[in-house]
Amino acid sequence: MSNGQKRTWWKEAVIYQIYPRSFADSNGDGIGDLGGIIEHLPYLQELGVDVIWLSPVYKSPNDDNGYDISDYQDIMTEFGTMEDFDRMLADAHSRGIKIVMDLVVNHTSDEHAWFVESRKSKDNPYRDYYIWKDAKDGKEPNNWQSCFSGSAWQWDEATGMYYLHCFSKKQPDLNWENPKVRDAVFDMMTWWCEKGIDGFRMDVISMISKDPAYPDGEVKDGIYGDMSPYVCNGPHVHEYLQEMNRRVLSRYDLLTVGEAAGVTIDEAKKYASLDGKELGMVFQFEHTDCISQGEAVVGKWNHAKPKMPAVREILNKWQLELEGKAWNSLYWDNHDQPRAVSRFGNDAAEWRVLSAKMLATCLHMMQGTPYIYQGEEIGMTNMHFTGIDDCRDLEEINAWNQYVVDHKMVEPEEMLKCFDAIARDNARTPMQWDDSSQAGFTTGTPWIGVNPNYKEINAKNALADPDSVFYYYQKLIRLRHANPVIVYGTFRPLMMDSETIYAYQRELEGKVLTVACNWTDQEQPCDLFEQGGEELISNYKEHKAGVLQPYEARVILK
Ligand code: GLC
Ligand code: CA
Repeated sequence: MSNGQKRTWWKEAVIYQIYPRSFADSNGDGIGDLGGIIEHLPYLQELGVDVIWLSPVYKSPNDDNGYDISDYQDIMTEFGTMEDFDRMLADAHSRGIKIVMDLVVNHTSDEHAWFVESRKSKDNPYRDYYIWKDAKDGKEPNNWQSCFSGSAWQWDEATGMYYLHCFSKKQPDLNWENPKVRDAVFDMMTWWCEKGIDGFRMDVISMISKDPAYPDGEVKDGIYGDMSPYVCNGPHVHEYLQEMNRRVLSRYDLLTVGEAAGVTIDEAKKYASLDGKELGMVFQFEHTDCISQGEAVVGKWNHAKPKMPAVREILNKWQLELEGKAWNSLYWDNHDQPRAVSRFGNDAAEWRVLSAKMLATCLHMMQGTPYIYQGEEIGMTNMHFTGIDDCRDLEEINAWNQYVVDHKMVEPEEMLKCFDAIARDNARTPMQWDDSSQAGFTTGTPWIGVNPNYKEINAKNALADPDSVFYYYQKLIRLRHANPVIVYGTFRPLMMDSETIYAYQRELEGKVLTVACNWTDQEQPCDLFEQGGEELISNYKEHKAGVLQPYEARVILK
């Protein structure tokens, strides 16, 4: 490309994330499975996505819905068998859809054979596969709080030592300093690559190298210390990823994306550098964690609405600073986030469809690789949680126990408001396929409640309505495939004084794309379109001179 960008298939692709447990249940046990995915591949083909990122399907006791793996080379019993997996892979490939696996190697399940061995004795050959420490003054080695509340250290009676778990106590952290761990992980990755998969989404990969001093963290909520400065982007993380790249990734043609909690622009330039020494791209979290100071209730919990100018400042910074140096991933939603239309848009009946399309436009016209999370393409919304019994996610349950029950720091109603706003279960309610019982997700009882709005918001309705969110996404995907300026064009912010309109231009080889999105339910002044040009897409059929209508999005090519 004339601006120095090199063409690569995964830069031109649109990714669709499947959370298998909640996607489609083929055998009536209430749990989504591989058979359900196979049944709906034609739907994804119709949408036009190039790649599926599959959240974990490996053998797991499901403490964290598969992010706790007990066997990396086997399939979760509830999801099916390795034969089902192979069938799904072949079927997807025959439709031109690639499959990217979730790679969860910061930790394993405590039921993984390595950990079962490791905890047996101090001289077990697998002892150093994990991070074991002695008690300090009869207590935990330091004050770190795990990402899922409580201490990040678990006492293990058998050998009288603590092990580190940055997530649940059933997710012990692997010791990446041990070369045997790296060998084992790289061998396992090679095995999947040989099977023919097309890439990896790497779970919390920024956390694999810990500060060897294990210092206490800053105490923010009055109970535990913040471990993030000592576990994110640690001293050897780039070394390990370069080794992984040399030994595995560079031998195949893969899409790689690192989930990088706590990543800064400077770090991202290393992880996702265009020279290809580490990964293809990273997920950063600044725009999803974007609330003002004082809006947090406790820990990560809040029910504040992110403000457009703040979100824009973050996303523009990532666009501008990675230009020509590293590659962005673009997302609003995933299985750890609430529903985008509820969080950033407006899920009131009147505005849901318009604002879902506006958000999609705003993101899909940027430089980077876009990710769509299941249900986003039909404008699925957040859930309403009436009590802790509605929740399934251990992050919510543990936070409830710590802050509401044990420490009485937050009123139950206040915590439920936080759950309604940002709980991960918002994204994990079953995919809404049609208006039949349980939204067509299962013939049995779903493992987590279906959102009651499924009679109206479902894929069947979307497919029957030419103006649906679904067909709008389909069009965005087609436009990206047909117009290199959308993939590779340089980015220029516009209207930075506006509090309501997110606008920018993209430019490549003499073509200029102008994008403007009204983030409010009121008409707003905007004179970017007075010069004319070819309209590529808009969520309104008629426009008004000099303004954008409520949640209007417009894209013009000249
Ligand atoms: C990542 C996953 C999340 C999981 C955690 C621990 O953040 O996306 O779902 O709970 O890592 O594996
Ligand atoms: Ca099932």
